[in-house]
Amino acid sequence: MTTRIIGTGRYLPENIVTNDDLSKIVDTSDEWINSRTGIRERRIAKDETTATMAAKAAEIAMKNAGVTAAEIDLIIVGTITNDYVTPSTACEVQAIIGAENAMAFDINAACTGFMVAMNTAHAYLQSGYYENALIIGAETISKIVDWTDRSTCVLFGDGAGAAVVKKDQVGLMKSIQMSAGAKGHNLSCRNRLNNNPLVENTKELGYVEMDGQEIYKFTAVAVPASIVKVLEESGVKPEEIKYYIIHQANIRIIQSVAKRLGVSEDKFPISIDHCGNISAASVPILLDEVNEKGLLQRGDKILLAGFGGGLTWSAAVLEW
Ligand code: ACO
Repeated sequence: MTTRIIGTGRYLPENIVTNDDLSKIVDTSDEWINSRTGIRERRIAKDETTATMAAKAAEIAMKNAGVTAAEIDLIIVGTITNDYVTPSTACEVQAIIGAENAMAFDINAACTGFMVAMNTAHAYLQSGYYENALIIGAETISKIVDWTDRSTCVLFGDGAGAAVVKKDQVGLMKSIQMSAGAKGHNLSCRNRLNNNPLVENTKELGYVEMDGQEIYKFTAVAVPASIVKVLEESGVKPEEIKYYIIHQANIRIIQSVAKRLGVSEDKFPISIDHCGNISAASVPILLDEVNEKGLLQRGDKILLAGFGGGLTWSAAVLEW
């Protein structure tokens, strides 16, 4: 037995922000952003929160799976932009969708968050602890970027993607996940610091900080290596994979991964152009876009991969 994705869903905020819109806020241009990253526009939350977007994506995924909220045993949300320190976003989602029989918690693995949520659900399901789970990646990155810093604010967007998973004969074939905490400073966002009358505190609340070139160098090596490893361990050849659904950080990273694997770029669906980088939400949003178009048939083999803050990365081969 393994773990199979039986339904997917996504939610993107209504508010579209183009590169030209951003050029009115910071010194940038559509040409710079699009040529460096492949991003043309992104959605930025107005009234939506991480939890409300997650819940909307979850409701679509449950409908797609034919599963009711009462049947959900476990809710795991991958996010770095929780609305509250506590309760978790997953507990907020539980309350909104009325999944009162579930246990709910969040995972912080940045852009790898959905992958780690899937791997964690898989471990619980295969151990017999639960029968089915709702796994979600949801982010409101717009609230943790410095909107005066053109080197980061143009890269990200907001949204949520979700999937329902259950125990089945086919599904997840092999998954690997890794972290490199020693490189974590290359992509960080500091949380609230000590702030009380007993200590001196001069630092301000943190925003996303990134050494883009270090992250680029890291992903150029680690991501193809993890994909090659998971393919080898699953006994699946690169050409047998119908779609490589990988984290949407930057079109150049995606193109370089395709080149290193010797696989056509046509096998790499793209959402970076209209979504930007939505951290943990990018893999499930793209998966749902592909699924909604009817591009996945039973028996197809697909590869999912995430990479980002921590640093963390993960790759998985699945039979649909
Ligand atoms: N508009 C115009 N100019 C800009 C902008 C902008 N938005 N941002 C930076 N610049 C300028 C810089 O100030 C710099 O100017 P200078 O030469 O006068 O000093 C110049 O452009 C080059 O800056 P770099 O940071 O060297 O730009 P680079 O070519 O490396 O591109 C980028 C930046 C796109 C982030 C690149 O490093 C990259 O692709 N990194 C990969 C990491 C990534 O995609 N991270 C996303 C989040 S992490 C994740 O999801 C894993």
